[in-house]
Amino acid sequence: MDLDTPALVIDLDRVESNVASMASLARASGVRLRPHTKTHKMPEIARLQIEAGAAGLTCAKLGEAEVMVEAGFDDILIAFPLLGADKLARLEVLRRTARIQVSLDSVEVATGLAELGVRSGQPVEVYVEVDTGQHRMGTAPGAPTIDLVSRLVETPGLVVVGLLSHAGHSYPISDHAQRSALVDDELRELLATQLALAKLGIDVREISVGSTPTVRDEMSRRGVSEVRPGTYVFNDTLMLAHGVATLETCAAHVIATVVSRPSPERFVLDAGSKCLTSDGVGRPGWIQVAGRDELTIEFVNEEHGVGRIDLSRGVPLSIGDKVLLIPSHVCPVINLFERAVATRGDLVVGALDVTGRGRVR
Ligand SMILES: Cc1ncc(COP(=O)(O)O)c(C=O)c1O
Repeated sequence: MDLDTPALVIDLDRVESNVASMASLARASGVRLRPHTKTHKMPEIARLQIEAGAAGLTCAKLGEAEVMVEAGFDDILIAFPLLGADKLARLEVLRRTARIQVSLDSVEVATGLAELGVRSGQPVEVYVEVDTGQHRMGTAPGAPTIDLVSRLVETPGLVVVGLLSHAGHSYPISDHAQRSALVDDELRELLATQLALAKLGIDVREISVGSTPTVRDEMSRRGVSEVRPGTYVFNDTLMLAHGVATLETCAAHVIATVVSRPSPERFVLDAGSKCLTSDGVGRPGWIQVAGRDELTIEFVNEEHGVGRIDLSRGVPLSIGDKVLLIPSHVCPVINLFERAVATRGDLVVGALDVTGRGRVR
């Protein structure tokens, strides 16, 4: 609380505990853990994940993968289609020192990767992304996926290693039974597609799934080979709402200072959307003030976080007071800071560079 604000603070004790518990769940389930680094974008945290037993890393973008390879990691899945000569040239460089797998859902993307695989004499390992309900990317389960995989296995320069899905449609669902049913559907569709391919003599061994709200259910299901949770490392208020995190497992906070008390019930913080994003606005409990449930954040502008104090609780709040905020969606919040303060309990123990921030290409 002595830090100048706004500041991003990462509690390393909590991170280590989150990392260890996910690793031990994966180990107990016999599933490979390939954490998504889009949440932290920090090689130091990736190192903790690998040391705890992760088999490799997932990145969202080629630029994030470059940061991780530069830091010495050598087994990365880029869960995003790579398109165009510039990116393929950069991928070629990365492949000299690291195993890089890529996910895709089209012949167009596969064509560029196949050319690279042929040119380099080393086929590119690809996952075919299947849309199991999020309706973001992916071919539909069944015939559309079977058609695409059948074409890709005939394409020189490619190896189809498996099917991949992201259960992002679980994010609005806080009821565990409903999320579990969604996971049942996801895996039924993936495994049926895998089986149909096997009947055609096409062996796609790997099934890669995993978002933080669904990963514990997914790990317990038959047929999953790899999981890719990201948010679990820090957690946020959406994970609190889903019951997959507690206040004690929230490891990333933004410290802010009260800079104005324009009326008895209103307060203004020096952290707005440029520190917290506006993700989740309108969701009850979207940005929370840790340990102070008489304070609610109503809206954010770029530099201002505007909140309301429940006066009936009789707790004072003055200009100059500091508060600890739990982000609504932690991944893009981390992306807004160049550096985080690392703490253990109340003590500052160092700094963490967010080396992968802004690497959107
Ligand atoms: C393809 C993919 N895999 C895994 C994840 C990790 O999900 P979560 O952050 O919920 O753990 C994401 C998150 O956006 C994703 O897009």
